[in-house]
Amino acid sequence: MPRLTEVVGKRIGPLVREYTPKDAALYAVSVGAGPSEPAWATEEGGQVLPTFAMATVFDFFWEVAGAASLTPAGVLHGEQDLTFHRPLPVEGRLSAEGRITAVHDLGPGKGAVVRAEMTGRDADNRRLFTGQCAIVGRLDGGFGGSPPPKTASPIPEHAPDSVVTDRPAVNQPLIYRLTGDRFPLHSDPDFARQAGFERPIMHGMGTLGFACRALIREMSPKEPRAGWVRRLACRFRRPLYPGRPIETRIWRTGEASAVWQTAAADNGEVVIDHGIIEMGPPPDDRAGIVEPATAGAAPIRLDGRVAVITGAGGGLGRVYALALARRGAKVLVNDLGAARDGSGEGSAAPADQVVAEIREAGGEAVANADSVATPDGGTAIVQAAIDAFGRIDILIHNAGILRDKTLAKMDPEAWKAVLDVHLNGAFHVAAPALRAMTAQGYGRIILTTSAAGLYGHFGQGNYAAAKMGLVGLMNTLKLEGARGGVLVNAVAPMAASRMTEDVMPPELLARMDPEMVAPLVVYLSSEACADSGRIINAGMGHFNRAAVVTGPGLSISDGPITPEAIRDGWTRITSLDGATEYEDAGAAVMAFLASAPPDGEGSEEALGIDGLAPSAVAEIFDRMPQAFRADRAAGIEATFQYRITGDAGGDWYVTVREGTCEVTPGRIESPVCTLTLSDRDFVELMAGRLDPVTAFTTGALKVSGDLNMAGLIPRLFEAGED
Ligand code: NAI
Repeated sequence: MPRLTEVVGKRIGPLVREYTPKDAALYAVSVGAGPSEPAWATEEGGQVLPTFAMATVFDFFWEVAGAASLTPAGVLHGEQDLTFHRPLPVEGRLSAEGRITAVHDLGPGKGAVVRAEMTGRDADNRRLFTGQCAIVGRLDGGFGGSPPPKTASPIPEHAPDSVVTDRPAVNQPLIYRLTGDRFPLHSDPDFARQAGFERPIMHGMGTLGFACRALIREMSPKEPRAGWVRRLACRFRRPLYPGRPIETRIWRTGEASAVWQTAAADNGEVVIDHGIIEMGPPPDDRAGIVEPATAGAAPIRLDGRVAVITGAGGGLGRVYALALARRGAKVLVNDLGAARDGSGEGSAAPADQVVAEIREAGGEAVANADSVATPDGGTAIVQAAIDAFGRIDILIHNAGILRDKTLAKMDPEAWKAVLDVHLNGAFHVAAPALRAMTAQGYGRIILTTSAAGLYGHFGQGNYAAAKMGLVGLMNTLKLEGARGGVLVNAVAPMAASRMTEDVMPPELLARMDPEMVAPLVVYLSSEACADSGRIINAGMGHFNRAAVVTGPGLSISDGPITPEAIRDGWTRITSLDGATEYEDAGAAVMAFLASAPPDGEGSEEALGIDGLAPSAVAEIFDRMPQAFRADRAAGIEATFQYRITGDAGGDWYVTVREGTCEVTPGRIESPVCTLTLSDRDFVELMAGRLDPVTAFTTGALKVSGDLNMAGLIPRLFEAGED
């Protein structure tokens, strides 16, 4: 089990769900939509409530809890803040993925908060929503983490501008449950009592659905438009019993924005707080896969941002500098002013000239003529921006030289000089920039790769190696930068410049205006871009994404692994049909493990049971004492009753006392808790292939008695280091 502080960065999903108009209508009804809201409550209505997206991928929240190993019985949905980029389609496929971004400690007995970011996409991979959520583990506090930052409530002291009342029915959670969230806390009176409630409570997301309906109707009274919700944020404060009247209180903050909270109308207790809603027309529905995160048609601005652009004295870099300055960025224009092959004394004139152009156009810029090719030069370039403007938000490493030679004729000097500017230069500027950006929690880094590196180019071994090296650097930097809010992408431009003037025919060069690349670089430099780790080819008005993908491959399991078996399987080994892209090397290795044939020697799993049939249930109980972690059992004295159903099932109880573990067939009176599950699920659970949180929330694992004690079990029978 990872320590809570070690789960930051863990990837969640993708979770994929198909849905039909009936699912969307059922959801709307489950959050109270009635005959006056046919656009939402009927299959033909044509509109989908934005909160349906979260209800559809609610497993995401459980995955976050599971990834952080939170004690299931204490898990609550804490907060969410979602930006919607386009209306939800009435049917289709929704996928959600993200990563854990932070964990905070509320203190012993108070709980832990796990934060995650998420992106939802439609079947065409277009972003539907992006945002953050927070999951509270009520039973997991006191792990030694930092407390969450304090946030002020946006809710004003004065009376709301409007109040919308409603009354969820007594059986509302039972209807909501039909949309997929079958957590027994909302349907099973015994379970609810064990969890400390009088009776089953409303799903927090269900109450949010009521609030969302109220907000849309209030914000667009003439014609309620679900697809106009651009942002919806809130914090879940307390549980609500179904059947009680509720009121959603709304304070307008602008024509299309408001803050809100939802309270129980009979006693005024706030159940959802810190609410924010922003409305606006949906963004242009162009076929683009990557869309600005900004709402509506707002132009992309870089006001207040400081950009460092290397090699910006001419060519593409100059055009980038002018474009960023036009959008409000303050620019440090770096250029050594050397010849195309990097030779010569260098000159400050090109950088000075570009700075003069920017200032003439009313922008702010300073010049720098240090070389990116040395560590000192890189540090000086970044420092010059910080000295001039106080910070650095954007780094565009664009400087480059050429020394073309076939490898057979390449001298070490030509090899080294090219790597020093492109690849080592990236390290020299990106390292100090990353430190400054991480400290401020925001940054955008754009590296410059090339078709020569991505696909190969005769006579450019040094250049191609450097350009592909930059892709490797980006792949790692996207992981290292993520926690500090630093996104890293790569551009492979095609443009007329002194670098290409004698390599391409004039007719082609005439179509390759660098101005056609600059808008992409502005976008990648801005807050509107939320992607990291992308390679984008750009030139002549065309843009596309290049990626490293991996084919499904071949597992050799029906005979020895020989050179001949490789020869015979070559077509399948090299096929890219059904290729996948991996987020990082870990994901690639895990996929490899999943595809590889089973290890004939048996498994390394905690109980050594991987691959055994359900009939192995008795054997697993036999082995449990060996898998017992006495070091984790200090102070625990409890008897757990197992009731395993199915052909291989039976009853066993496990007694943990004074650092020992004893397993006995049969039943015992008054166990601390009873766990009921099928023989197959038991084997899957103990083999680590079924997540306990998932088993619990889907009902595969039923627990009665002390839920908190049940939550300890995975820790007591697990391999690995603390
Ligand atoms: P360019 O030669 O006009 O610009 C490169 C700039 O980098 C020059 O102003 C040069 O003085 C500067 N520079 C060279 N060494 C430096 C150093 N050590 N420190 C600071 N500045 C230095 O060429 P272009 O076409 O504008 O290239 C920009 C970037 O785009 C380069 O990284 C290049 O490899 C890349 N690229 C360009 C393509 C094109 O079609 N133009 C194709 C693919 C990649």
